[in-house]
Formats: sequence, structure tokens, C-alpha cells
Amino acid sequence: MPATVIVGAQWGDEGKGKIVDLLAQSSDVVCRYQGGPNAGHTIVREGETFKLHHVPSGILYGGTICVVGAGCVIDPGLLVEELDELKARGIKTDGLRISGNAHVIMPWHVASDAASERRLGKLQIGTTRRGIGPAYSDKAARLGIRVQDILDPKILRQKFETALAEKNLLLDEPLEPGDLADRMETFAARLRPYVADTSLLVDQALREGRRVLLEGAQGTLLDLDHGTYPFVTSSNPVAGAAATGIGIGPTRIDSVLGVAKAYVTRVGEGPFPTEIEGPDQERIRELGEEYGTTTGRERRCGWLDLVALRFAVRVNGMTSLALTKLDVLSEFDEIPVCTAYRLPDGSETVEFPAHQSDFHHASPVYDTLPGWREPLDDGLPGAARDYVEFVGGALGLDVTMIGTGADRERVITPDQPAYSRS
Ligand code: IMP
Repeated sequence: MPATVIVGAQWGDEGKGKIVDLLAQSSDVVCRYQGGPNAGHTIVREGETFKLHHVPSGILYGGTICVVGAGCVIDPGLLVEELDELKARGIKTDGLRISGNAHVIMPWHVASDAASERRLGKLQIGTTRRGIGPAYSDKAARLGIRVQDILDPKILRQKFETALAEKNLLLDEPLEPGDLADRMETFAARLRPYVADTSLLVDQALREGRRVLLEGAQGTLLDLDHGTYPFVTSSNPVAGAAATGIGIGPTRIDSVLGVAKAYVTRVGEGPFPTEIEGPDQERIRELGEEYGTTTGRERRCGWLDLVALRFAVRVNGMTSLALTKLDVLSEFDEIPVCTAYRLPDGSETVEFPAHQSDFHHASPVYDTLPGWREPLDDGLPGAARDYVEFVGGALGLDVTMIGTGADRERVITPDQPAYSRS
């Protein structure tokens, strides 16, 4: 089916970049529908590592159109840097298309993100400090500056005069509207060729029967409306937001592929019921190289949480699942999987708690599955397959892709002989 959403099923960093990269080979258009440079996709291709923040991973294939949709926020300086780096490594970027309706992250957004985290002290969210929350706040307050504004010097200068009259009161070092406009115009000159009516472009591609991937950043539990608020990002990673973020109707979406790690990680603050206490946390971090692509921060690591994953299946209308980094679990004799939460009143639930206090105090109820203690290089041993099927069975969903290593080639599908080795 032509339009597929790829959505993170946990707290981000599920390995979506690699799955998108793989599916992008047979796609015509790859779109990002929300988020900004808080996202980081690591793609390892033939031993070469690419870390992308704004640009959809499809850019690594010549000929693929890559869209940054209206639902995204863009830091123009970082985007220009990313384009320069791709070009320097021989990757063509002429397939990039940026929505003129996407909002622009301004220096005051970055400054205010850091300042509010400092102010919150122990209550801080643990943001990526890329100005994401303040940029989306200005968008909602109708004070934002959009990509199309930076292309028009007159509008840009007017907007900066108005915005800086207020923003400068909060900045340690006030910005001068003219200087900032000059700087933005340099970026605008670089970005102008990429700006397009991306809603129209994607609609036309779908009408022509072309294959479109809609790639979410972050993950379901970081969703502003459905995630673990306030420890969330300021946009909607859930699949439904693909339609609004790109500017197509929800009836145009045919399938939703969720991506989950075979365990769970989280960066930043907030509740995390299956977070591991003890040396296995560090072991998973080392084995899975669990350090943030954007900030380099250590990721918190935990066992797979099927309660949270079942919730993600629901709120995204997921039609299949990719389970990544299964190889990381190859070092463990036994693997706990959370199948229910115990709540403070002693009851157990398999549904994700609707009330924050229940979630904050939920303790995991584990089933322990046998490990396989061997590499997955030649395919899945029986116990690894059982693990995958346990997950699929609990969710009532087909696990259609299994990641067994960092490289793009290391993905097994159930129709391959490697899936049912021994
Ligand atoms: P922000 O998106 O920078 O405002 O950060 C809000 C929360 O989302 C923090 O807990 C971040 O660590 C988290 N976050 C944002 N982007 C990502 C991501 O791409 N992967 C994982 N966590 C993220």
C-alpha cells in the first residue's frame, strides 16, 4: 500500500532511522512530519555512519524525494550544516523539499529552552536544549516565524522587530533585529531552492500511486497529548499526526509500522517502570551503545514493557511491528518482559494507566523468558524466535522485521530462512 507511517513505539531512539533507510530503498518519497533537531537518526551503511537530525534518512538514496513537513521545526543553521556535511561525503541533497509552513527555531528559543530547564532544577524535563518546546509554543501562540517568512526580507524584519521587543527582555544578551535578519537571510539563500508546497507534492505522489513513507521522530510515549506528560516533547509523534504534519487527509494512510527496541531506553527525566536497577542496566547500555545521537547523554535502559507497547499499538493504530536490536539481548541467560503493572492499591492491569499517579507508581510484573546466549549472525535460534513470537502474540500484531545488528543489512523478516534457523 502506498502510504506507510513509521512511528516510534517507545520513548524514541527505537532504531527508526535504520528501518526507514531500509524501506526507503523501495520508496519514492520519504517525509518527516514533526519534531526538529531534537531527533537523531543513526544509519550505518557499509561501515560508514551517518547521523541525521533534520533530513529524512531517504536522502542517502539518490532519486528519493525527502520532505520536511509543515509539522516540523527547523533550526536553519543546523540544517545548513547537515546539508554541507552530506555534500562533503558525496551525498546529493537535491531531493530535499521543505515546507514553507514549517516553523523556524530562533536563537531565543534555544536560550529559553536552556533557561527554563535551569529554572526547573530538579523538576526539569531533560530536554535536548535545541529550542523545541519554545518554538512550538510560539507556533501555538501565533507568534512563530515560518520558513516562508525567512524568504521574505520585508516580512522577516517586521517579524523580528515585533518578536524581539518582547524576547529581548528575557535574553542575557539582547539580539539586534537587523543583525539577526542578515544572519537568517544567509541561511534563507541556502534553503530557498528546497522550499516547496510539500502538501501538494505528497498528494500528487499518492495520486500517481507512488510509495510514500511518513517518518515520525521521537516516540509515542514522548507525544505531547498521549505521552508521559510533562516529560514529553512538544509535538505529536503518533501516527495520526502524520496527516496533519504533512497536509494530507487521514484516509490517505494505508499502514502504520511501529518500531520498538527488544528492550526499552529513555533519555531525559520521567517515570520508567521497567528501568533496570543494577549492573544489567550498564550492560545493556554498553552492548547497545545507548548514548544519545543528539546530546551524547547516557540513555536509561530497561526491559521490554508490553503494557506500554500495547498502548502504542492502540494510539497509533499500528498494523505491524519492527523489533530492533534483538542482538543486544544475546548476552543474557534470562530475559524479563513486563506483561502487566501492579498499581499502588495492589491491583494488576495490562492497560497503560490513564492517570499519571498510577503510572508514576506502577511496578512491573515480569514473565521471564529464556535467553539464547549466542550471536544472531546466522539467523534466529529457537529461543530468540520464541521471544519475538511472545511479543507479537501479546500484542496481537505481526512482527515483520527483526533487527539483529547495527548495519542496514542486519534485518530479518519472517519469510527468510534466517528467521527459522534450527
Ligand atoms: P525536547 O524534545 O528537546 O523538548 O525534549 C523533551 C523530551 O523528549 C526529553 O526527555 C528528551 O530527552 C526527549 N527527546 C526529544 N527528542 C528525542 C529523541 O529523538 N529521542 C529520544 N528522546 C528524545
